[in-house]
Amino acid sequence: MLDRSSDREIKICCGTFYQSDFVRVFLGDVLHPGGLELTRHLGDLLELKPEDKVLDIACGRGASAAYLAETFGCHVTGLDYSSENVAAAQAHAATRHVSHLTNFREGDAERLPFDDGSFDAVISECAYCTFPNKVQAGSEMARVLHAGGRVGLTDMTVSGPLPSDAQSLLTWVACIAGCCTAEEYVSGLQKAGFSRMFLEDQTQALLDMVKIVRGKLSMAALAAGFLKSALGDVDLSEAKRLAKLAAELIDAGSVGYALIMGIREEQS
Ligand SMILES: C[S@@+](CC[C@H](N)C(=O)[O-])C[C@H]1O[C@@H](n2cnc3c(N)ncnc32)[C@H](O)[C@@H]1O
Repeated sequence: MLDRSSDREIKICCGTFYQSDFVRVFLGDVLHPGGLELTRHLGDLLELKPEDKVLDIACGRGASAAYLAETFGCHVTGLDYSSENVAAAQAHAATRHVSHLTNFREGDAERLPFDDGSFDAVISECAYCTFPNKVQAGSEMARVLHAGGRVGLTDMTVSGPLPSDAQSLLTWVACIAGCCTAEEYVSGLQKAGFSRMFLEDQTQALLDMVKIVRGKLSMAALAAGFLKSALGDVDLSEAKRLAKLAAELIDAGSVGYALIMGIREEQS
């Protein structure tokens, strides 16, 4: 099945945005709220064991994959749409001395390049919201898990339609325009063949991340000359305005972050 060109644009835009110097300066290599602490929590809830084969869909620069391999001793395969992120993930695993427990490849979450039932657990952090075809992505997660396998996501949520001003925030990070309510993610995964769903609010992690980014943006405004090469064309005052807007939307309960888990049913 071929992508619609608008879907392809969203994936390329998302990949490009998250491999940019701007993101690296403001987020570092861990590209999701809650950092590796939340990744640890997800690994604990999924009860990862050394014999598990884990797939990290949209693994970004590989920080979580390396961390899970190091912490739980499991084998982690990371997949990302961006070839630059895949290369960074391989390099990161080498510096963490977990290359023997990890492997990374370029690919699309909606068309996973793996056989049916290849994995014991699938994770995806701060990425499901960006997939244009969530039904397809959910079915692919179910397909590559064996029966009884576990899925664990953490992701951005919305509580309903956002105020019109928020559209500029979504346009800026175009790939989060596909955010759903936590309940919509849950029911989507149920339709894909998951059951025994578990949902946990993690909005505080998002709020903390936005606070850190806002602090860094204020520092960057002071050090604009020094950071110019890393920031490229980024309009700092617009970035500050949007980060403030993000904090307001979180405070108002319009935007949040959630952890969602499920088990792949026998019949899927
Ligand atoms: C917010 S980052 C999260 C990265 C990583 N999970 C983390 O938490 O550090 C989103 C990632 O999704 C990747 N991505 C977006 N659409 C994708 C797709 N259709 N298939 C695979 N990766 C995708 C991007 O390249 C980017 O690395």
